[in-house]
Amino acid sequence: MKFVRFLMKNSSLANVPRHIDHFSKFSPSPLSIKQFLDFGSTNACEKTSFMFLRQELPVRLSNIMKEINLLPDRLLSTPSVQLVQSWYIQSLLDILEFYTKNADDHTVLSGFTDALITIRNRHNDVVPTMAQGVIEYKESFGEDHMTSQNVQYFLDRFYMSRISIRMLINQHSKCGESDRLPSTLPFQEETLKQKSFISVLLSAVNGSKQPVYIVYVPSHLYHMLFELFKNAMRATVESHESSPRLPSIKVRVALGGEDVTIKMSDKGGGVPLSKIDRLFSYMYTTAPTPNLGSSGGAPLAGFGYGLPISRLYAKYFQGDLQLYSMEGYGTDAVIYLKALSKDSVERLPVYNKSAWRHYQHIQEADDWCVPSSDPKNMAVDKVQQ
Ligand SMILES: Nc1ncnc2c1ncn2[C@@H]1O[C@H](COP(=O)(O)OP(=O)(O)O)[C@@H](O)[C@H]1O
Ligand SMILES: [Mg+2]
Repeated sequence: MKFVRFLMKNSSLANVPRHIDHFSKFSPSPLSIKQFLDFGSTNACEKTSFMFLRQELPVRLSNIMKEINLLPDRLLSTPSVQLVQSWYIQSLLDILEFYTKNADDHTVLSGFTDALITIRNRHNDVVPTMAQGVIEYKESFGEDHMTSQNVQYFLDRFYMSRISIRMLINQHSKCGESDRLPSTLPFQEETLKQKSFISVLLSAVNGSKQPVYIVYVPSHLYHMLFELFKNAMRATVESHESSPRLPSIKVRVALGGEDVTIKMSDKGGGVPLSKIDRLFSYMYTTAPTPNLGSSGGAPLAGFGYGLPISRLYAKYFQGDLQLYSMEGYGTDAVIYLKALSKDSVERLPVYNKSAWRHYQHIQEADDWCVPSSDPKNMAVDKVQQ
């Protein structure tokens, strides 16, 4: 709190904990893709969306701000995490400005849209800034298993909340444009049929087969496939440095009654089983520290966040992303999505007692034996463990 004080008026800042307490008592309301579509198609879209968002955004922000406050002190107090926290506080206050304003007034509606765009820009660098906070923490205190688990639990929820908030903001800013630009609505099923990345992908790979049509957020699908292609290409190139030909990467898309599954298979040498879990870890990344701010955008590769963030995009609408690898041969990366838009419902973190419990530092002993090669240690007194 000390760090952000100069950014805001003392009076509004003093009320922040009270606002957070109030709005975090509500549970976020998950929307289905079908509901997003319906929002985009009704005429009174902007006003309905405004009334929903001025309640829902403070609820989603406050739920996750409660969890930020539960981070270990040594992480919470890093300059990077303090900066991110100040952005959340400012954005909460920005939205609450509209809480009692007249929803029939056009200037209020356009002011709200402008405020949302300011918020979206303010939060552009949240992912690399939080990553920087984790690096600062690691450099000062090292990596212990307990903190790593805590950080993993928190960042999965924090980034998921962020994806959902940006989704709401993007959808709202498109809905203001709907009168003027009907063909650019992201969720018009017709538009999606023409532009579906899935259909492009399938015809590119399987040629003669029928294209698969699904309703999905194009940018999320793009993000996941971009990351998986990047990893598969890199592994292929690095494992075949001395070969004259590179083995191709194969993608298969299957549509079932419940799932759309996209499998990307490479022959890039694979990853040993013992390392697979770490590939999804925010704390155990093997990547060297990237240079923040030098390129002006998010680093292409660097934080080792490609897989964990892609998995969050898949999980956001109740799907998943998994890796199956054969060390010495190659890797299958599989994206699971829901085939039906009514099943694609946002998966959102909620702050409650069980979430709170995750942040309490109760160091429990492992309930599986630690393998030991030293026979002298074979009869270990349990009390010592
Ligand atoms: N298809 C793959 N084959 C072999 N290794 C992979 C593959 N995909 C990911 N990896 C390993 O997982 C690590 C983490 O991947 P990712 O989360 O995308 O971060 P980054 O690509 O920035 O390192 C990679 O550095 C690589 O070592
Ligand atoms: Mg990658």
